[in-house]
Amino acid sequence: MNISFNVEEGNIFEYILDNIPDAITVVDTKCTTLFFNKTSEEYFNIKKEEIIGKDLRNVFPSSLLPKVIEREKAYHNIYNSPRENTYTIISAIPLYDDKGKLIGGLSRDRDITEYMKLTDVLSKTQHNLSELEKELSVTMQSESYFSKIISNNTEFIKRINLCKNISRTPMNILINGESGTGKELFARAIHHESERQGNFVAVNCSAIPEELFESELFGYDEGAFTGARKNGKPGKFEEANNGTLFLDEIGDMPVTLQPKILRILEDGYVTRIGSNKEIKINVRIVSATNKDLKEAIQDRSFRKDLYYRLNTFQVQLIPLKDRKEDVVLLANKFLQKFCMENGMNIIEIPNEIFNIFKRHSWEGNVRELKNIIQRSVLLAKESNNEKILIEFLPDYLQVIDVEEELSLDYDSSTQGIEEYLEKIEKEIIKKTLDSFNYNKKKTAEHLSMPRSNLYYKIEKYGL
Ligand SMILES: Nc1ncnc2c1ncn2[C@@H]1O[C@H](COP(=O)(O)OP(=O)(O)OP(=O)(O)O)[C@@H](O)[C@H]1O
Ligand SMILES: [Mg+2]
Repeated sequence: MNISFNVEEGNIFEYILDNIPDAITVVDTKCTTLFFNKTSEEYFNIKKEEIIGKDLRNVFPSSLLPKVIEREKAYHNIYNSPRENTYTIISAIPLYDDKGKLIGGLSRDRDITEYMKLTDVLSKTQHNLSELEKELSVTMQSESYFSKIISNNTEFIKRINLCKNISRTPMNILINGESGTGKELFARAIHHESERQGNFVAVNCSAIPEELFESELFGYDEGAFTGARKNGKPGKFEEANNGTLFLDEIGDMPVTLQPKILRILEDGYVTRIGSNKEIKINVRIVSATNKDLKEAIQDRSFRKDLYYRLNTFQVQLIPLKDRKEDVVLLANKFLQKFCMENGMNIIEIPNEIFNIFKRHSWEGNVRELKNIIQRSVLLAKESNNEKILIEFLPDYLQVIDVEEELSLDYDSSTQGIEEYLEKIEKEIIKKTLDSFNYNKKKTAEHLSMPRSNLYYKIEKYGL
């Protein structure tokens, strides 16, 4: 390489080198400073005039360049902290002329203070995050499973507390409630709160074909029947040993099997099919049904003695339609959860939607509400909306209530019938437009009127 610093060429070189973010220093073989760019001036706080033509070692005793010259060796990416809170990466190389003779050295200092600060922030954040994670998992462990059951209804809260209090007793519990009221949620909470060491094992009695019921519940031994597994298979009773067996839809338990279940509960022993060995078990039974078992006892599809065994304690879950305050609370909770899961800001549930929710009969109870919120959040995300619109609801819920806003009293002394009907029409159109976020196509469809007619009415009523 041929470096010369004559004036014209030097101007171009200098201009370029002054405008790069690295500090550049060039020395000859005697360590006399030949070049010091503008970044170096700013970086080391030394003027060019103070260093050029002088021995670099006098200004920077610990510089890498003398070593480069002495050893004719290049150094790459050496980490350095020349001052407190200042960090650099230094590279320095020997320089040769065309004939390969050493003529000097060049060093490049790159300021990495900003990167270091960022790395520091990042590692502190990472540290905080892992501390928070630790705290969270401690709270999660200590937090009762019952706190997942949300309600503002005094009577429902009483039932939650009652179940919590009896969790640790060995009592069998029968949970009664409509579909989606939280029967399984309660059963799991009872198991967790019970601190029983074994598993929570759920069996859906309505989903098992009658002929497979016995082998599912009691298990079987090797060779018990054709197709039986080698070494046999434990049944659900064994799997739930020292834990909880959740018999869901207990009303669908085949009548023929009921005496056998009763015997296991009374004796505390289970025998696998094809075996004569009795296995001692300790299982707590939580069962659930949405049927009236008393009626089932009447028509002999459920045994009275089994009913009393299962029902040492009974809890009736209140349907959602009878705890309207929970509709708002649960809707907001689910909204928060799904928005967070989807990485969205929390969107709004406008009052007209809550009004629809409050009037709805909720036959699917909490599960139905949860599904509706989940679906609405996804539709809001897709269409970039910051609130839930009526059109996001399933068709059967897209009912716009105008009754509340209307005064239906008709006073013939102050108004004619035409005027009165127009008032009602205006109110209905206004409410529907609001509900559909002023989407005229959807409003016209909803009101089954031609769009042109809708435009005319909007104009007429000044909406
Ligand atoms: N009070 C509540 N707080 C929070 N979530 C609830 C509540 N009640 C029910 N859920 C949620 O609603 C859904 C339905 O609950 P669950 O499956 O326990 O109902 P179920 O009574 O067993 O219904 P089914 O009779 O249809 O089996 C679940 O996702 C559950 O987490
Ligand atoms: Mg269930």
